[in-house]
Amino acid sequence: MWHSDTPFEHGVATRRARLRVIGLSAGYGPLPVLRDVSFEVKPGLTVILGPNGAGKTTLLRALTGLIPRGGEVLLDGEELPEKTHEIVQRGIALVPEGRQLFGQMTVDDNLELGGWLLTKPQRAERIEGVLNDFPKLRERRAQLAGTMSGGEQQMVAVARAMVSSPRLLMLDEPSLGLAPRMVDELLAIARRIADAGTTVLMVEQNVKKALAVADRGYVLERGSLVASGPAALLARSSVIHETYLGNAPRST
Ligand SMILES: Nc1ncnc2c1ncn2[C@@H]1O[C@H](COP(=O)(O)OP(=O)(O)OP(=O)(O)O)[C@@H](O)[C@H]1O
Ligand SMILES: [Mg+2]
Repeated sequence: MWHSDTPFEHGVATRRARLRVIGLSAGYGPLPVLRDVSFEVKPGLTVILGPNGAGKTTLLRALTGLIPRGGEVLLDGEELPEKTHEIVQRGIALVPEGRQLFGQMTVDDNLELGGWLLTKPQRAERIEGVLNDFPKLRERRAQLAGTMSGGEQQMVAVARAMVSSPRLLMLDEPSLGLAPRMVDELLAIARRIADAGTTVLMVEQNVKKALAVADRGYVLERGSLVASGPAALLARSSVIHETYLGNAPRST
C-alpha cells in the first residue's frame, strides 16, 4: 500500500489523523468570533471556504492553541491539548496566513525552524526528506526567503511545516496573492500531501479551484458553518454558486 518513492510520505505510515470539533467557540476578548462550530476533518483534504472576516483564520488559530478556545476538540478520539507546543507534539502543523517566513534568513534556516521540537540529527534528516519533496527548493537553499517570489515563499512555508512530519497539516489560504499557475501548483501540493497520508485542513477563498482538489468542504459565514458536504456536491450547490461564484448552478 505504501510506496516509498511517493513524495511527502516520511513517517506517516501510521493511522491517518482525524479531527473532531464539537461546539467550538473562540474570539478575541469578550466577543466571540466563532460560535458553536462543529465539524470533522477526515483523512484526505478538507477545505473551509468563507468570505473575508468569516472567522477562518480564527478557527485555525484556535485549533493550534494560538488563541483560547471553548468546546471540545478530539484528535483521533483524544482531547487536543491547549498549548501550542503540545499540539505540535501531537502532530499538528500550521502554515499561517501570509506565510510568515523570516525574509532575512535563508531557505535552509527557515526550514530549520520547522523542526524546533526535533533533535539536530532528526531535523537534518527531515529537511533532506522535505527537499526531496520540493526539489525546486533544493536549488534555492541558500537564497534569502524574502527575495523569493510569492509562490516560492508559500512553498517554503509549506515545506517548513512538513519538516515536523505532521499527521494533520493546516493551510491558511495558501493560494492568496499568487498567479493562476502558482495557485494550481500549491493546490496540487496540498493534494499530494493528503494522498501521501497527512490529513490536510485548508482554508481557501479560491472556491472553484479548492473544491476541485478537495474531498470535502465546509462553508463558514459570520462565525458559523452554513453548508458542508463532499467537494463535488458543494461545487454544484446553490450556496456556493450564489454566494461565491455569482451565478446559478448548472442543472446537469
Ligand atoms: N487579533 C484580533 N483582534 C481582534 N479581532 C480580530 C483579531 N483577528 C481577527 N479579528 C476579527 O475576527 C473576525 C474574523 O477574522 P478572521 O481573520 O478569522 O477572518 P478570515 O475568515 O480569516 O478572513 P480573511 O479571509 O480576510 O482572512 C473579524 O471580524 C476580525 O476583525
Ligand atoms: Mg484569514
